[in-house]
Amino acid sequence: MQIRVLDGLAVAGKRVLLRADLNVPMHDGLLADLPRLERLTPTIRELADKGAKVIVCSHFGRPKGKRDLALSLAPVAAALAGVLGRKVTFAPDCIGDAAERAVAALPAGGVLVLENTRFHPEEEANDPAFAAALAKLADLYVNDAFSAAHRAHASTEGVAHRLPAYAGRLMQAELQALDSALGNPVRPVAAVVGGAKVSTKLDLLGNLIGRVDALVIGGAMANTFLAAQGLPVGLSLQEPELHATARDILGRAGAALLLPSDVVVAPALAAGVATRVVPVAAVGAADLILDIGPASVAALQARLADWGTLIWNGPLGAFETPPFDAGTTALARAVAEATAAGRLRSVAGGGDTVSALHAAGVAERFSYVSTAGGAFLEWMEGRTLPGVAALG
Ligand code: 3PG
Repeated sequence: MQIRVLDGLAVAGKRVLLRADLNVPMHDGLLADLPRLERLTPTIRELADKGAKVIVCSHFGRPKGKRDLALSLAPVAAALAGVLGRKVTFAPDCIGDAAERAVAALPAGGVLVLENTRFHPEEEANDPAFAAALAKLADLYVNDAFSAAHRAHASTEGVAHRLPAYAGRLMQAELQALDSALGNPVRPVAAVVGGAKVSTKLDLLGNLIGRVDALVIGGAMANTFLAAQGLPVGLSLQEPELHATARDILGRAGAALLLPSDVVVAPALAAGVATRVVPVAAVGAADLILDIGPASVAALQARLADWGTLIWNGPLGAFETPPFDAGTTALARAVAEATAAGRLRSVAGGGDTVSALHAAGVAERFSYVSTAGGAFLEWMEGRTLPGVAALG
C-alpha cells in the first residue's frame, strides 16, 4: 500500500493536526517511557520548522470516556516541551471552544498539545461528529501514532477521512522497518516468538508459518508445545486445552519450528531461588520451567549466522525475575552483535520485548525497535491496521 508521507508537503502557515501516541506510563508523577516522546520529535520539529502550527492530539490511558484528571495530558505536554527544548502550550479540551481558542492563539512554528481524546466517549466510538470537531481545528492531518494504529478511533481513523492525511516520520519509519522484516525481507527470515500464552499468539503463529524460514518459540508458550508432544513440564505454566492446536501448528510448521532442547527449572518464580538446567525430557514433577537453557541459546546463536532477517516479539523466559532473563539477554546480545557486524537485520516490538532489550542494554544495536505493543502484534498477525489503512 502506498502511504502519503511528508516529503514535499507545504505546511507553512497551515494548521496541522498531529496524532501522536503520548500514552507514556507515569510512575509517581514521572514519565517512565521518555523514548516514546523522543521518537516523536523529528516529525514535530520538521513540521514546526517549516512553519506549521502543530496541534498534537493523543489518548492517554483508558479513562473510559470520562474526564479523569489523573489521566490529563498536561504533565506529558510539559515533558514533551522538555524533550523538544521548545515551548508547548496546552488546551484543556481536544474539541470545542477551548481547543479552538488555543489553536487560534498558536503562532506559525508553535506547538500545542490538546487534552486526552479519550475524555470523550465519542473518540473510541469513532463518532463522525467528534471526528468532524477534531478536523475543524486543522487544515491537514498527520498520523505519527503507529502504536495506536490498531484502534479504529476518531483521532486515528475517522479524522483521516476528513482532512488531507499523511504519515509522520515515525509512522513512516515503523512501516518501512516492518516491511523490511516481513514484507520484503532479506532471507532466510527467523521469527522469535515468546511470551506466556499460545492462546494470545495463535493468529500470529498462523500468519508466520509459511512466511518465515525459522520460527523460534520460547517463554511459557513453549511449555504448551513441549507438553503437547508428551514431554514432562512439571508444574509449569501451560495451556492443556491447546495441545491439539499446538500439534497442528507443529505439523504445519515442520522443521521450521524450533523449541528449546534444555530449560532452566526452579521450584518457584523468585529471585535468587536455586535453579537447575535440565534437558526438556528430564523436567521433574515439581519443577517450573522459567527460561530456555544454555544449550538452546547456543543452538540459536549458531543459527544466527544463517539468517538474513530476524523479527522478535516476546521474551524467552520470565525475564523480569533474574536469573530467568539469562536466555533472552544472551540471544539479544548475539542478535545485536550480528546486526552491528552487518550480517543481520533485526526488528523487535512489543512492550515486554522492548523492556527486555533495554534491560540487556542492546536495544540501540538492533536495526529497529518498534514503539508499538498491541499494534506490532496485530501487524505481525497480518491484520490491516485501520490507522494505517486510512492513510492510503
Ligand atoms: C499503546 O500504548 O500500546 C497504545 O497507546 C494503545 O493503547 P490502548 O491499548 O489503550 O489502545
